[in-house]
Amino acid sequence: MLAIIGGSGLTQLAKLEVGQRKVVSTPYGEPSAALSFGHFAGRPVVFLARHGDQHSIPPHQVNYRANLWALAEARVLGIVAVAAVGSIRSDLRPGDLVLPDQIIDYTWGRPSTFHEGPGAVVAHIDFTEPYDQALRRRLLDAAATIGIRLGAAAVYAATQGPRLESAAEINRLERDGADVVGMTGMPEAALARELALPYAALNVVANYAAGRGDDRGGISLEAIHAVLAASMQQVHAIIEAMLRDDE
Ligand code: HPA
Repeated sequence: MLAIIGGSGLTQLAKLEVGQRKVVSTPYGEPSAALSFGHFAGRPVVFLARHGDQHSIPPHQVNYRANLWALAEARVLGIVAVAAVGSIRSDLRPGDLVLPDQIIDYTWGRPSTFHEGPGAVVAHIDFTEPYDQALRRRLLDAAATIGIRLGAAAVYAATQGPRLESAAEINRLERDGADVVGMTGMPEAALARELALPYAALNVVANYAAGRGDDRGGISLEAIHAVLAASMQQVHAIIEAMLRDDE
């Protein structure tokens, strides 16, 4: 069973036929929302709204450990994490979709490992390739099959939020080599790796990052919402095509 974590603009999976909503608790507390078990494109999936069903949990307060733990306990075989991003690169425009292949983590103060606390043993995971290659490939193939453009590589910068960045901060991220910026990619990806869960992020470009493109004069939140509403159709279509291809 595949898990889908929905971010801003995807608090529900419209075409998910929900069978059972399950409120779970974990040794790390409560996940952001109940797990919605159901079928999508005829395949079993479980959906979790990262920011809660009412979109009320800001990025730095998401209980990433509880979310990932709950999905592991549900025995998912992989996670597609949908998330909105700002684009630092001029050729990645609002409405575009991209599958990041690398991460730079600028977040702080977020519980970011399962291997701490009383009785825990220190563990260091390999994070050279932060995303699962096979899952990325399946998403790319699915997008190609239905003719949706999906960028095959990008460096994702995870910022703390919840505020957006300053123009100078975006310049710094660009100098560091980042292509897109979002607030939820970490520690989510690292925690998935700690649990050995294949994880890929599907990023929707919601806006040009601060000081870039049309957003030079400031970022319009109304415009972000409009872009996300339109692009989520494509996210649905890609995931649907990927599941349909499954044996
Ligand atoms: N910055 C950080 N996170 C985001 C942005 C942004 O510009 N757009 C959507 N998520």
